[in-house]
Amino acid sequence: MEVATPEPCSGGNNSLTDENNDSDTDFAPSDLGTKEYWEDVYQKELETFKDIGDVGEIWFGEESMSRVLRWMEKADIPEDAAILDIGTGNAAFLVELAKHGYRNLTGIDYSPASIELARNVLKMEELTDIIVKEMDFLNYQEELKCFDVCIDKGTFDAISLNPDNTKKSKTLYIESLKDALKDKGFFSITSCNWTKEQLLEKFSDGFEFVQELPTRSFQFGGKTGNTVTTLIFKRVI
Ligand SMILES: C[S@@+](CC[C@H](N)C(=O)[O-])C[C@H]1O[C@@H](n2cnc3c(N)ncnc32)[C@H](O)[C@@H]1O
Repeated sequence: MEVATPEPCSGGNNSLTDENNDSDTDFAPSDLGTKEYWEDVYQKELETFKDIGDVGEIWFGEESMSRVLRWMEKADIPEDAAILDIGTGNAAFLVELAKHGYRNLTGIDYSPASIELARNVLKMEELTDIIVKEMDFLNYQEELKCFDVCIDKGTFDAISLNPDNTKKSKTLYIESLKDALKDKGFFSITSCNWTKEQLLEKFSDGFEFVQELPTRSFQFGGKTGNTVTTLIFKRVI
């Protein structure tokens, strides 16, 4: 298992706290925003898994999962809560959620290789009750509704780098999220491309900010900034 240097952040915006917070900043389009890129990544990870049983990268490291799990425990999210992992990748977060007792878990990803890898990982962990589906979150045909908690770790970042139409992708993402979450359901987002202020602005309509989870900060030139931001929102209808 490898701890990832978060590549989707290469076009990123880890600004220091008193920089210009232009909330409508768009990043330069990048391959990291394409399905082909992720399919290639997970094809390679799938081959490695089949060769040596390594599940692949943990985006933003183990702590990025632990901090959300700690919050879920404090927030008393029940073990039977319906939880959706948006852009599940290798399903590492689903595995951790299951190890913490959560038992109503769904993961989706638009990369077929990611879903094959996720199914293999879940089979190895004997977690075959977890649902994983190949699905584009920006354009899903099947029902994806009534989740108590939606989790995003790096997926909105990737979508924000979509070379075709980054603005439209972000709007579609927010609409899909609104549909997927129950009223008063929670949304946890971990991002390395967007600052807290930018995320607050993006998820202002239909969501209420709950809290920021503490992440490692850095200092530069007398200013303080974060490499990764994790925010919790509540859906309000
Ligand atoms: C940076 S990776 C993070 C993977 C996983 N969340 C993790 O933390 O390990 C971004 C993931 O988002 C998925 N993704 C990007 N756009 C998507 C979309 N429109 N619908 C579903 N999945 C998408 C990619 O295939 C990839 O698995």
